[in-house]
Amino acid sequence: MKSILQAIKEAFATAINAMLPEGVERPVPQIIETAEKKFGDYQSNIAMGLARLIKKPPREIAQDLVNRLKLSDVCEKIETAGPGFINLFIKTESLERFLKTIQADPRLGVTVDPEIVHHVIDFSSPNLAKEMHVGHLRTTVTGEVISRIIEFKGHTVERVNHVGDWGTQFGMLLQNIFENHPDVIDAPQNFVVSDLEKFYKEAKQRFDNDAAFAEKARDKVVLLQSRDATALKIWRAFVNESLRHCHALYKIMGVTLKDVGESFYNDRLPLIVEELKNKGLAVTDQGAVCVFLDGYKNRDGEPLPMIIKKSDGGYNYTTTDLAAIRHRILDLGARRLIYITDIRQAQHFEMFFKLARIIGWAGHDVTLNHIGYGMVLGPDKKPFKTREGGTVRLKDLIHEGIERSRALMLEGNADTENTRVRSFSAEKILDIATKVGLAAIKYSDLCHNLASDYVFSWDKMLAMDGNTGPYMLYAYTRIMGIGRKAGININHTPLDTPLVLAHPTEIALAKEIARFSDVIDDVAITLKPNTLTDYLYGLAKAFSSFYDKKQGVPVLDSQPESTRQSRLLLCCLTARTLKLGLNLLSIDVVEEM
Ligand code: ARG
Repeated sequence: MKSILQAIKEAFATAINAMLPEGVERPVPQIIETAEKKFGDYQSNIAMGLARLIKKPPREIAQDLVNRLKLSDVCEKIETAGPGFINLFIKTESLERFLKTIQADPRLGVTVDPEIVHHVIDFSSPNLAKEMHVGHLRTTVTGEVISRIIEFKGHTVERVNHVGDWGTQFGMLLQNIFENHPDVIDAPQNFVVSDLEKFYKEAKQRFDNDAAFAEKARDKVVLLQSRDATALKIWRAFVNESLRHCHALYKIMGVTLKDVGESFYNDRLPLIVEELKNKGLAVTDQGAVCVFLDGYKNRDGEPLPMIIKKSDGGYNYTTTDLAAIRHRILDLGARRLIYITDIRQAQHFEMFFKLARIIGWAGHDVTLNHIGYGMVLGPDKKPFKTREGGTVRLKDLIHEGIERSRALMLEGNADTENTRVRSFSAEKILDIATKVGLAAIKYSDLCHNLASDYVFSWDKMLAMDGNTGPYMLYAYTRIMGIGRKAGININHTPLDTPLVLAHPTEIALAKEIARFSDVIDDVAITLKPNTLTDYLYGLAKAFSSFYDKKQGVPVLDSQPESTRQSRLLLCCLTARTLKLGLNLLSIDVVEEM
């Protein structure tokens, strides 16, 4: 099923095709939503672009294009404006028709892409041996959402947790165990993640301040690399315990991930270095094996090396990522790879992506995306810390969110007017608070531009109005309340229900609902979840205006019956869109709150 926007885009493409001589590459028409509705619903500036190819004034080209557009079904009016803009006004009947088709579609018009692309999406990927902290929030939430959206578009997705389970930090931990906690050597399975945190802190402290310790810790990495049985036994216990802790959190957060840690690639690292050397891409420089890519310089303007084998013989993050990308493309058959990390790693990704292309692992049919995200800041605009100045553990953050939302509900509960919440059992309150708390944290994370830093604020994210998770859930429950009163099931409206759009708020709401599939298509390509949160917020606001006593229309007590049914159908479609949209954002709706 084609969305209204898609129908417009196709009509433009056909018209443009007929206007250009053969052999000239066809530009893809950009059709955008107009900010001001008096200029129509959509606008295109393609005539300006075509002027270079057709050598006529853009205004003339625009008029010629408009004359050729076969859109009488979809548009009520198409105008040219200014230097050559084309403004399109959607026909109400075409909106009604489109909404009636999506009423029958559980996917609300979102199509499955014709060609299935195998994706590997690398996200969360914490370094083990430490507990997950606030720095892992964005990658974990965003990765889950992007995976859900791409899967929904019909693609296959492997969600990979590229955990840091190898390297210096384990040498440090091992050395500390040997020196200070020998009891662990015999019973490594007995310690828990909180011990790990303690061990890690102790070890790091020693490592940074005691050269002899640091030296021995490095030896332990070598011991581990040589597959020493005791070292491996302790290492495995560390890794298992750390992963158990991660997955307990993933479960609460509704996140699915398969662990394929850095250690998985150990055996392949020497082969990668060989391959690069054989192809003449790697050279030995001051004892280390390096790759020099054109165009990369360090601060002093000297060529910036990508070190793939250190002078001490060890391999590093880059070598592992090279082995991983090779494996993902050549062995797993991935054709789109998406990595979600802190934006400060952008150059690392840029460089090894480039190398993967040069060496030929990533051909033209492979898309490589790195999504870099900004930091979560505290109220002082510095990296978010606990009151004591420590790292904020992700576990604590999530529990605090749930606890705060429960407290807010109980506050509402004490309010004598809120008899409904008062009737909820403690269990139900906890269930709702959990969903609302998680929605608040996730939504506030997703609604910010990914590349920018954002300030973490409990008050803002838990607010019941504005662009927040709780507001979106509230908007949904409000419609569910209308449905209950009307005695209808939002998912099963009879297909012969009439839909007549007359009032401006009805039309505005219908236009929002109709855009859903375009928004999902956009996010699947641009990988920007805040496009979806913005859209859902706009939808909820359009619903508010429609349902508003003054600006909008009566719903439950509107007359005649056909109008009432039509308006209830709009309510149902809004609720379904909110629910599906939130679900793709990994947010569970609640039926009442
Ligand atoms: N463990 C890394 C970190 O904590 C992130 C890994 C991301 N994935 C990758 N393939 N490099 O920064």
